[in-house]
Amino acid sequence: MIREKDKCFELTTHRTTYAFRIRENGLLEHLYYGRKTDLLCDDIQAGEQIQAIARKSAFAPGNAICYDNEDKSFAPEAFAFEFATSGKGDILEPMIGLTGPAGERTFDFVYESHEIRSGKQELKTLPVSYDESGKVQQLKVILREKYLGLRLEMYYSVFEQCDVITRNAVLVNESSKVINVNRFLSFLVDLEGDDYRARFFTGAWAREMHGNCVQLGGGRLVLSSNTGTSSSRINPFFWLEKDNTCEDFGECIGFNLIYSGNHYESMEVSPYGKTRVVAGINPAGFSWKLDPGEVLEAPEAVMTFSDMGHAKMSYNLHMFVREHIVRGGWKHKDRPILLNSWEAFYFRFNEAGLLKLAQTAKQVGIELFVLDDGWFGERDDDTASLGDWTENRKKLPNGLGGLAKKIKKIGMDFGIWVEPEMVNVNSNLYREHPEWVLEIKDRAHSEGRNQRILDLGNPLVQDYIIGEMSRVFSSAEISYVKWDMNRIVSDAFSQILEPERQGEVLHRYQIGLYRCMKELTSRFPEILFEGCSSGGNRFDLGILCYFPQIWASDNTDALCRAEIQNGYSYGYPQSVISAHVSSCPNHQTLRVTPLETRFAVAAFGLLGYECNLADLKKEELDAIKEQIMIYKKWRHTLQFGRWMRGHGFDGMGITNGGGSVIRSTAGNLQDWICVADDACCAVVVLLQRLAQPNDHSIRLRAKGLDPEKMYHFYGREMKYNVKGFGDLVNTVAPIHIRQDSMMHDLVARFVKLDGEKEDYHLRGDVLMNCGIYLKQPYGGTGYNDQVRYFPDFSSRMYFMETGDPEQE
Ligand code: DGJ
Repeated sequence: MIREKDKCFELTTHRTTYAFRIRENGLLEHLYYGRKTDLLCDDIQAGEQIQAIARKSAFAPGNAICYDNEDKSFAPEAFAFEFATSGKGDILEPMIGLTGPAGERTFDFVYESHEIRSGKQELKTLPVSYDESGKVQQLKVILREKYLGLRLEMYYSVFEQCDVITRNAVLVNESSKVINVNRFLSFLVDLEGDDYRARFFTGAWAREMHGNCVQLGGGRLVLSSNTGTSSSRINPFFWLEKDNTCEDFGECIGFNLIYSGNHYESMEVSPYGKTRVVAGINPAGFSWKLDPGEVLEAPEAVMTFSDMGHAKMSYNLHMFVREHIVRGGWKHKDRPILLNSWEAFYFRFNEAGLLKLAQTAKQVGIELFVLDDGWFGERDDDTASLGDWTENRKKLPNGLGGLAKKIKKIGMDFGIWVEPEMVNVNSNLYREHPEWVLEIKDRAHSEGRNQRILDLGNPLVQDYIIGEMSRVFSSAEISYVKWDMNRIVSDAFSQILEPERQGEVLHRYQIGLYRCMKELTSRFPEILFEGCSSGGNRFDLGILCYFPQIWASDNTDALCRAEIQNGYSYGYPQSVISAHVSSCPNHQTLRVTPLETRFAVAAFGLLGYECNLADLKKEELDAIKEQIMIYKKWRHTLQFGRWMRGHGFDGMGITNGGGSVIRSTAGNLQDWICVADDACCAVVVLLQRLAQPNDHSIRLRAKGLDPEKMYHFYGREMKYNVKGFGDLVNTVAPIHIRQDSMMHDLVARFVKLDGEKEDYHLRGDVLMNCGIYLKQPYGGTGYNDQVRYFPDFSSRMYFMETGDPEQE
């Protein structure tokens, strides 16, 4: 709800309040963001309350600048704001930076008017959150630049249910002069206090979402991406928290940006007890020539306050992403279990091999077959053919159409991989249209994965992508598309833009990209699109406005994935995180992890498989078949239930700041839980990194259940291979068995060890408050069915049901 009284604005969600007012001098003063508080109550106290909570100043401090000569007590440095430029006494980070016709850089924006409306306004160039419930309200505050007449529109949208407030800004040049925009961020807020801790996620290829924690003190902490993408180097999602905040307790404010390009976030502590937070398009390398009458839109930013720790912040953001970012027919629809051909074949495949793989996939219950890179042009490695989207007839004699038909006949849906934004120099497209590429003519180009980036700011390139992809997507029965983007930007230069507009190239790229995505997703509403950018190099809310899911990382190692997915979980729901079971030893780490752990980790995202199933042993295929049966039964809860980090997650991985990825892990034992919306059932996964001898039994506590309901808690019935015990077999064998001998193999074939059984009927409050002491883990002193076989990298899944579990 949005209320206004005497130019004070109060934005209220279910559990939070955000307040600011217009000062007499026309500046926007921030008053409060925190727990729900009735500031503008309908009685006469409202004015007194606002007066009481506002900052006071009778004399401007020392050498601070007074904003105007009429009020010598008002120095911007000592007050808190919703907006600021520089040059008029505010010396912290500005939200906007302009150069006027005379080269002036000081501007003065003041309040002109405001409007409160139901519903949300769309942007013309960028994706924004949306609302179908009709409950979202939006406040528009218009500021006017005093001398040139520029108009700045600031928007606040209130999503009550998920405790989210979004902000965005639009700049309109209503003057008769050209204005150069050097910085145009999405929002600015001066939070009360100077004692926040910043939490954010850095990484690299295959090492996405590593948690960082930095105590803010004096000065400024800047997070920024310069890769041309939101990037795996630093995700635009971050939060600020107080000293005592942890998973389930304490205050924190989460932020994110609906944008897929270079982004910038800064947290600056002022000596006057406030912390300025800004975020938006990265000003580094950015400029925009704003002609008279022209409009520039800044991406929408997302904020959420939680007084119940990280868990509630994540809950708010999960709900927001699911309800107000992801759209289209797949929004609430169960996602298919897929098999991706990449790690099975890379570029080396033929139709017969694909069909053999598809047949095996079908046998174990997989629903969608995805043909990854390598199906087009002369693409036998990554040096050629991006841009030439016609089938390689040597690999696919019957084309995509023929293959799709055969896959359909086997009983699965068919999907493909594309990388529409890219071109290889060795391609017909590059030979025909070198002017469509981001590069500086006659200068050496810095290469990335042997490919170059098309200039998506060029409308001809956008039309080509829309046309070519429409042709490809209609050329066969295609149900799924993986849209990849495998290099970051270098040599950013558009061959169609005039010199003074070259600072616009990368933002124009994003606008062009969004146009292509919007057009293609509306032309092909049935297709399930999955975003990808060398894994998670573009895992952001901009992409999620069009594609309902994203490939989270090229790292499929279960242990690494547990940390990566855990990182994402702070700001993104599991229904957008794609995760696969891959082969062993893992292709990125060469680590050997149990198949069940690979499954358990992938099942807490959107499950897929990415390995050559046709080469697996029968035993492994049987295990996968069972995994898929379990997943199908629990799919809706796993994909759309309330996803929570368990009690093992009180500290996320922490580095000592500076974006270093040398880190301690979240703990040796980790647990996640997914609870159905009506709390009638839940699934837990418990993961262990390294086994310890003589470890004590552990207590597993659930979350999010109905305290009064009775639950049947149980684990999976597992059998274990005696070979896991090595030559300890001789402690029970009647004859001596040499380890790894034929005899050992023979025994292993016929003798399976029963796993421990966990089976209880308990009330929800018992499960959540007391928890269950699980059976003792194997610790070097003995093994029977009362002991958990739990070597390195082991996991367990436990299920809780009140009555009938969900049925497929
Ligand atoms: C990078 C992706 O992240 C991989 O999954 C795979 O699709 C390759 N590109 C194909 O080139």
